[in-house]
Amino acid sequence: MTLLFTLDAARAAIFAEAVARTLPDQRVAIGRDGCDPGEVRYLMTWTLPEDIARFTRLEALFCIGAGVDQMNLDRLPPGLKVVRMVEEGIVRMMQEYATLGVLALHRDLPGYLAQQAAATWRARPVRQAAQRRVGVLGLGALGQAVLERLAPFGFPLAGWSRSPREIPGVACHHGREGLAAFLAGTDILVCLLPLTAETRGFLGADLFAALPAGAGLVHAGRGAQLDAAALIAALDAGHLAGAVIDVTEPEPLPAGHPLWRHPKVLLTPHVASVTQAETAALTLVENLRRLAAGRDPIGLVDRARGY
Ligand code: NAP
Ligand code: GLV
Repeated sequence: MTLLFTLDAARAAIFAEAVARTLPDQRVAIGRDGCDPGEVRYLMTWTLPEDIARFTRLEALFCIGAGVDQMNLDRLPPGLKVVRMVEEGIVRMMQEYATLGVLALHRDLPGYLAQQAAATWRARPVRQAAQRRVGVLGLGALGQAVLERLAPFGFPLAGWSRSPREIPGVACHHGREGLAAFLAGTDILVCLLPLTAETRGFLGADLFAALPAGAGLVHAGRGAQLDAAALIAALDAGHLAGAVIDVTEPEPLPAGHPLWRHPKVLLTPHVASVTQAETAALTLVENLRRLAAGRDPIGLVDRARGY
């Protein structure tokens, strides 16, 4: 029975080498050529193959990324284990990106970029970190790691999740009933939510209105969570001061979309964090061992919740 990688060849080779070195009895295939889907026990991929129904003996589906929303999980047998990526490299990169975004908004980088374009030498108003409250939507693997990385700057920190969480040094809120207080106390909002039916379109006009005037947004969750027109309206009205956006709907963002040239928006092309094969291979090997021992893998997706 085979472990099949349908990934870019460079990363697949790193994963395959790690498996061959540590679990020499595990048969490995890179790419579909010559691989019988009926012989595949484990599949690592970003999207579901069209003919996923032919993978009749699949026992676990490993997603190369942290989010699994790009796969239609309804096409999979109910009992099939779906495993998202939880690994040191992806966490570290998201810590960097969120810190970059928070500091860019905290120090008004969009304003200085506009001034540079106009050759204007002028100091803009500045606040101390202790006066800038940062709130993170999503207190999972990435949200918690981002809060940990932001702590030394001295921002008052808060977070919001579905179920109650306790994180030292972080004011934790949860559920719809905890959302208003969380938003009212957040000057820079960082979105690290998974895309589910509940979070689709979540970053919209009502949410922006619930943030204090002058707040900013760092969005590194998924594009479909953001109502871009509502964001632009809130920026143009002056209610929001700026946004750092890594994910859009659709991707790539079409030419001519107003986000491309908005003076208060810094835009990156879904690069906040990328699975690093060298470190992710360690998680994969550990998960193969766990599955062989009948244990749950790290990053097991709750199919009913969708993340
Ligand atoms: P995770 O460990 O599954 O954590 C998800 C968090 O979101 C949990 O705290 C969860 O609450 C919370 N949540 C989910 N649905 C919610 C809801 N309806 N209301 C309130 N809170 C909710 O996920 P992760 O590894 O941190 O990754 C988060 C997301 O980041 C991924 O799904 C992906 O979309 C995105 N991502 C983006 C990039 C990029 O490059 N832009 C890279 C990697 C990941 P509970 O704690 O109560 O379960
Ligand atoms: C990237 O967006 C991921 O989900 O890993």
